[in-house]
Amino acid sequence: MKNQIIKRTEVFVRKELGEDATGHDWFHVDRVRRNALHICTEEKTGDPFIIEMATLLHDIPDEKINESAEAGTAKLNAFFQSVGLAEETENHINQIIETISYKGGRKTKLETVEAKIVQDADRLDAIGAIGIARAFAYGGKKGQLIYDPNINVREEMSLEEYRKGKSTSIHHFYEKLLKLKDLLNTESAKKMAESRQQMMLRFLEQFYLEWDGQDS
Ligand code: ADP
Ligand code: NI
Repeated sequence: MKNQIIKRTEVFVRKELGEDATGHDWFHVDRVRRNALHICTEEKTGDPFIIEMATLLHDIPDEKINESAEAGTAKLNAFFQSVGLAEETENHINQIIETISYKGGRKTKLETVEAKIVQDADRLDAIGAIGIARAFAYGGKKGQLIYDPNINVREEMSLEEYRKGKSTSIHHFYEKLLKLKDLLNTESAKKMAESRQQMMLRFLEQFYLEWDGQDS
């Protein structure tokens, strides 16, 4: 039964996200699911079904891939309608999806261990080698520069500024990516983040050397 629901959800998500090039493609979702289930096993806590469903669906209502936040929510709700989960289960999954997003540093207190695990897994996929690739993919799609030394790094920003303000993909490392490791909830995720953090720091070091023509 649960297996069948997972399969149906996979089919739905693949269809919805398949072509997205802002970093929310199916492979992102699949990596987040795998990392979340891995953390769940390591930490020996959390309901794997809730975790798997929430990771599969976590980007479906995202305002960036829908006409509006409302349209995204409607799409998710229509899918829930068609599956017919227990109300408690559906509410829990919904609550996870609603609370985990970063959105410019917004700090929402997470209520459940499942939410903490899903958030950690999503954040792990924003850092490291994959995170670097996603930042430049997103930046290219948005038409932003890879780097411009004349633009300041923004410290505090509203959601509006985070989405619309002028920035570069290199700036995004300071505005979000390098901060993520200290925002992780679980020990397992913190452990996985270490080598990913090192990878980003090494990348930036080399990037500036090459930018300044100092790498030889
Ligand atoms: P969230 O919804 O959690 O705030 P996003 O959906 O905005 O995260 O991010 C999707 C991917 O695109 C992530 O890997 C993120 O780091 C990257 N990204 C988001 N905003 C930018 C940006 N301004 N420049 C470069 N990459 C970005
Ligand atoms: Ni995601």
